[in-house]
Amino acid sequence: MSIKEAKAENTTAPTRYVGQAIARLDGPAKTTGQARFSAEHAYPDLAYAALVYSTIARGRIIAIETTEARGVEGVVAVLTHENAPAMKPAPKKMSMLDPASVASSTTVNYLATDEVHWNGQPVAVVVAETPETARYAASLVRPTYEQFPAAVDFAAGASDAVPDKGIPLLGGPANKSDAAAALAAAPFSVDLDFSTPQHNHNALEPHDTTAVWNGDQLSLHEGSQNISGLRAHLAQRFGVPAEAIRVLSPFVGGGVGGKTRPWAGTLLAVLAARATGRPIRLALTREGVYHTVGGRTASMQRVALGAEAGGQLTALLHSSVSRTGRVGGMPEQITTVSRHLYAAPNIHLRQHMVQLDLLSNTFMRAPGEALGSFALESAMDELACELGMDPIELRMLNEPDRNPVGGQRITHRMLREAYALGAERFGWKNRDPQARSMRDGRWLIGMGVATAHLSSMRMPASVTVRLGADGALVVRCGLHEMGMGAPTVQAQVAADQMGVPMESVRIEYGDSDLPPSAGAFGSAQTASVTASLLAACTKLKKSVLRLARRLPDSPLKGRKLAELEARDGGLYHRGSGLRYTDILAAAGRDHVEAAYKTNMPAFVAQTARDLRFRSRAASGAQFCEVRVDADTGEIRVSRWLGVFDVGTVLNARTASSQLRGGIIWGIGMALEEQSLIDPRNGRIMNPSLAEYHVPVHADIPHIDVDYLNEPDPTMPLGLLAVGEVGITGAPAAVANAIRHATGKRVRDLPITLDKVL
Ligand code: MOS
Repeated sequence: MSIKEAKAENTTAPTRYVGQAIARLDGPAKTTGQARFSAEHAYPDLAYAALVYSTIARGRIIAIETTEARGVEGVVAVLTHENAPAMKPAPKKMSMLDPASVASSTTVNYLATDEVHWNGQPVAVVVAETPETARYAASLVRPTYEQFPAAVDFAAGASDAVPDKGIPLLGGPANKSDAAAALAAAPFSVDLDFSTPQHNHNALEPHDTTAVWNGDQLSLHEGSQNISGLRAHLAQRFGVPAEAIRVLSPFVGGGVGGKTRPWAGTLLAVLAARATGRPIRLALTREGVYHTVGGRTASMQRVALGAEAGGQLTALLHSSVSRTGRVGGMPEQITTVSRHLYAAPNIHLRQHMVQLDLLSNTFMRAPGEALGSFALESAMDELACELGMDPIELRMLNEPDRNPVGGQRITHRMLREAYALGAERFGWKNRDPQARSMRDGRWLIGMGVATAHLSSMRMPASVTVRLGADGALVVRCGLHEMGMGAPTVQAQVAADQMGVPMESVRIEYGDSDLPPSAGAFGSAQTASVTASLLAACTKLKKSVLRLARRLPDSPLKGRKLAELEARDGGLYHRGSGLRYTDILAAAGRDHVEAAYKTNMPAFVAQTARDLRFRSRAASGAQFCEVRVDADTGEIRVSRWLGVFDVGTVLNARTASSQLRGGIIWGIGMALEEQSLIDPRNGRIMNPSLAEYHVPVHADIPHIDVDYLNEPDPTMPLGLLAVGEVGITGAPAAVANAIRHATGKRVRDLPITLDKVL
């Protein structure tokens, strides 16, 4: 569907459900324990797999001793590179037109060679009758290695970083006039370096897979954010047609990037099931997730800003270094945010990347913009201090009319309104701008702001809607529910579009046999599915109307759909109309169905065209209050308000929850999260929730979330994106509040108490 069509689909039909705070439809199944996650499916003859992980970063397996493991009672098989059947190699290059390549997490062909590419790479799989036996026997497998030199230290490797050209649809380097000269000439300036550590995924549900081969047919239970990509990838690796694979993923215990691509555990469960002829369950330990699922790259950034005495920006320079693995990953688009936020006449953006002998990096909530906004928004705050200006005023003064890089029209932006509302509600005027000026006993109090920003996009999604003679409306789309309420909001949209009660809508999702959805990534799933659902509902109503017009004495004779209202379970023109059930009964139909299909090539071409002319994003204003113990440096976030412009809000409850979740993660990023990597051998030293700290209840105050709820004129139903924008700006808001409380600017995450003392 073109953007123009999408606009036409922005229906003016009365909204009965859209916008309401409706509870997630799968809530009862989850809270009563009836929901089956992918490691909870029973099969007769089910066997259990456990992985053996390499303990070197790079090298070769010279020998692998498995006799003892094989001797354990209950062991079914021990698979190593010496005896495992070979998978086909991973796709060499990533192309948007090849979903198997988009879903490729590493190029490693597990158990096909003796090569080791990172510390933690699986080198053997043990299959046994119980999970305990499999894990015990795995501990008895003894590889001997020849070690090769390995580069695992990001700080040391950063000097070898090479320029990154950017990735399609996101924009990479940029050069607008002469930023270096403008910086040198600026009467006020800041020039700051920032660093952030690697982060690892910690979804509530660790990655797990149940794989069942039936001849050449594969059924897979797997929590996934991208089931069609997963299916395409497995089809290629195991040499079967995609239609021979069914991925079932109705429940996903969190993902946010870590379940977008299948990792080693998935591939090896499928391989083990094929090799042993048994259904296999492979449930990773938390440590296993750290070993085999990529995380967020570490980063180094420089942001330099030049300004006139009045606060007008004259120069904005932002450069970054990130890393991938030598075996895969994607260059993180860290400077993207600096293309969009400030109207500087001179802008210089550069990204660099270095390949390390570590597991591939991957997507983690707001890749690029979460990191980039930390540096940019910290630097803006520091510039405000230099200028002696209020940081909100400085931002508002530099609000652009058009996109600062490229000059595209901004479809919708309400940062002024967000800051005005937020300042009022947070009591910003009570802030004494002087650092270390606000105190409550031994607590130093600080207040900080930062801007949130996340580009909004759409992906192809196919949807089928089916209206039954009994009035039931079934929406079929292989979309993903990882806790955010995605099917619930689509049920709301469908009910409104068709004018039926939500109770008569059923959403089928999380199954690769359904029409393929967009993946649940890039905060794009809801807009993508909604666009197609609107189109499918329009087609369905047209089909029903055709039947209705043919009926004898039809009050809808000669009427066009545009003149009608869908309400009360039927189609009406002013006072008169017909109920769907009556139309179908009179027409002798069991059901009427409509399908809306999209395809990737048309989508890619159209998006590229669109991006030349339009800039489209969700944004927001983050307000943070911290308390820092003047003696111990203990940091507590004491208040939070986020005011967001996410376009139309489909569901007040689930949208707030998404935004709140992003803010909590942002607080964790600011104060707690870091993967500690041993520079001698590339081993993650804290691969557990005991040592890798994420926020817990005691760390998080009540988080006040508000949104403006104004539609974007170019998006389906006017919705932008709520998934990832909440984390952006949040770490900077914390850092800025700490700067205000203590006078210390901390530029290295996480901000632990030793850094503020
Ligand atoms: Mo998001 S990191 O694109 O799941």
